[in-house]
Amino acid sequence: MILNYENPRLLVETGKIKTGTISWKTPSNIALVKYWGKHGNQLPRNPSISFTLNKAFTETTIEYIPKINSVYGVELDFYFEGERNEAFAQKIVQYFEKLTDIFPFINQFKFVIRSSNSFPHSAGIASSASAMAAIALCLCSMEFQFFGNLKNISEFRQKASYIARLGSGSAARSVFGYVSIWGQNSEVDAASDLFGIGYGLNVHDVFRTFHDDILIVSSEEKPVSSRAGHQLMEMNIFAKSRYEQANAHFRELLSAMRRGSLEIFMKIVENEALTLHALMMSSNPSYILMKPNTLIIIDLVRKFRKQTGLPVCFTLDAGPNIHLLYPDNIKDRVENFVETQLKQYCTNGLIIKDQVGEGPIQL
Ligand code: PMV
Repeated sequence: MILNYENPRLLVETGKIKTGTISWKTPSNIALVKYWGKHGNQLPRNPSISFTLNKAFTETTIEYIPKINSVYGVELDFYFEGERNEAFAQKIVQYFEKLTDIFPFINQFKFVIRSSNSFPHSAGIASSASAMAAIALCLCSMEFQFFGNLKNISEFRQKASYIARLGSGSAARSVFGYVSIWGQNSEVDAASDLFGIGYGLNVHDVFRTFHDDILIVSSEEKPVSSRAGHQLMEMNIFAKSRYEQANAHFRELLSAMRRGSLEIFMKIVENEALTLHALMMSSNPSYILMKPNTLIIIDLVRKFRKQTGLPVCFTLDAGPNIHLLYPDNIKDRVENFVETQLKQYCTNGLIIKDQVGEGPIQL
């Protein structure tokens, strides 16, 4: 796929430069087949598929203020949850510097970025996907406003996903509603390593009703970042078989999701979660992100499924928290199970009751 997003003509005419603001509310996503291992400029080693969430989101407003002189490079202030945050500002400066070939207009403005999450910062939920996707959508809205490009919604989302990917790989999938795919594969011709695509309308209805109860087992900061984890895959002796397995899982899961096969869905999703953590444990140096309560909950979920026959399964992100996945039609029975058996293993009883959602909206 050849994409020409490097377009130095995207400079705003001086007469048109005015102060303005753009805001997007963008959800997080949870991978079902995991992206773990990358190469080149944020390109995935295997295709991944995710549910877009609803209640776990980032709201970002970018105020753009014309600069007298654009030679000074990227200038921005970053406020997180209402407070100035220098560490985040540095990261966004580096990200914007990477983007100036694509969006030369970045150097024509000073930016004040205000971002906040719907979930508590200390909940241990990765926010990079929703945060980077929100910024990418704001930048594409600026392109639309200044140049009238990206009128067509699918063109707009594709570019936003491409830009989001350069900030955080998994962010490429937060741009679409319900279900997203990212990474070239043998099943979906339109899929690409460069950007995600929406897949929500191609799956069985039941998957658009899915709940994700995020059971917060620990809210401590992760000892090893995702960035370092991806890096360690380069030397992992299981890497080659992992990428083969991920491709096979991707094919099987996609087919199960089209048909509405919950049995196969649960089997693959749990295997993916445990494989992700097995890869961390078998890295050199090795590390473990699960906690004892993670294993207790996994055991209880499997027992509950066996006893009741209900389609409830779990997945994990790169952390100790459990994402409990199940369709809406069994919500009352699962709620009771969560309250009486699982809640006690969550830190301060914290559970974020989320659901598959429609994707980002401009505010
Ligand atoms: O987007 P990154 O670089 O933070 O990597 C995310 C990796 C996982 O969340 C563990 C899996 C995934 O596909 O989202």
